[in-house]
Amino acid sequence: MSGDSVVYEGLDETGTARGGPAARAVPAAIEVSHLTKVFGGRTAVSDVSFSVAGGEVFGFLGPNGAGKTTTVRILGTLISPTAGSAAVAGIPVSPAGAAEIRQRISVMPESPGLYQRLTVTENLDYFARLYGLPGREARISEALAAVGLSDRAHDLAGSLSKGLRQRAALARSLLNEPAVMFLDEPTSGLDPVAAHEVHGLIAGLRDRGVTVFLTTHRLEEAERLCDRVAIMSTRLRTIGRPDDLRQELFTTSLDVTTAAALPEPGRVFGGLPAVQGWKAAGPPRGGQASYVLTVSDVAQAAPAVTRALVAAGADVLSIAQSRHTLEDVYLQLVGDAKEQAR
Ligand SMILES: Nc1ncnc2c1ncn2[C@@H]1O[C@H](COP(=O)(O)OP(=O)(O)OP(=O)(O)O)[C@@H](O)[C@H]1O
Ligand SMILES: [Mg+2]
Repeated sequence: MSGDSVVYEGLDETGTARGGPAARAVPAAIEVSHLTKVFGGRTAVSDVSFSVAGGEVFGFLGPNGAGKTTTVRILGTLISPTAGSAAVAGIPVSPAGAAEIRQRISVMPESPGLYQRLTVTENLDYFARLYGLPGREARISEALAAVGLSDRAHDLAGSLSKGLRQRAALARSLLNEPAVMFLDEPTSGLDPVAAHEVHGLIAGLRDRGVTVFLTTHRLEEAERLCDRVAIMSTRLRTIGRPDDLRQELFTTSLDVTTAAALPEPGRVFGGLPAVQGWKAAGPPRGGQASYVLTVSDVAQAAPAVTRALVAAGADVLSIAQSRHTLEDVYLQLVGDAKEQAR
């Protein structure tokens, strides 16, 4: 890492602690301010600022090579930033604070990092000793129970399936009872059932008040588990609650389906309160016709649209608000980033 100029500034409150620290009920578990990491000539992370509140489950999304793991490694004190600063569990990320930070966090890396020829318990015992943890036996059995692996405690790590190995890795990262956990793609390569189990474990961590920093490519996972998500592509593209991001990026629309095509849809939909525009959603199918209406306020528009359709003698099959998923948000933002890079 020679050639990296390491800058550890004091925390810059401007970008990260909006409203000031007093405005927040729970102190921030992670504060990142203008973080940048350059490897040789390649910028992996550029001027990224955000903060994660204590107890929050925070999703970190972005395409391959977006700088997610690099950010995790900086926050986990494994590598130094090129510029910018960060604090984890209230401790500034710096060589001086590294040991203290490591005691309060754990990082579950992309690959589980277990010794294949040791049993699950031997692995956990090895790491518990390495971390200098007291009361190893109790910690290990508690961690194994938390991930539902007690009955495989004496199996060789190498004999476990991918999903079970992932759980053993999670047990390993629970050993030091961390306040902040970094999970780097914990469900990558898992089948839907195993992934669902890991989701349950993450929900359990939330219940225990652990702050979870979760990188993932599974958008439905982020949507289901995370209080807020950041979408990253070297720079931070956006950050917010999944619901808010959907609203910010997309107009609300109503999908209307009628039993037969309306003879004059413009007459029915035109001039209704809160309806800004309409279009036919493709050609009629099996006699049925569908329309998409852009609306400013669903609560006002939906009843007005229903009344207008009934007045026009249309047989309404459905009126529903169309929901954009976090995936739509992601594709929109990451697609934009690629366009700009061209
Ligand atoms: N040690 C390193 N030396 C040189 N380049 C690196 C190093 N680590 C990461 N990079 C580069 O930094 C960029 C970001 O990598 P990073 O691993 O952070 O991406 P990621 O978002 O975790 O991607 P993925 O979704 O594929 O895991 C990539 O271009 C990568 O090749
Ligand atoms: Mg990665």
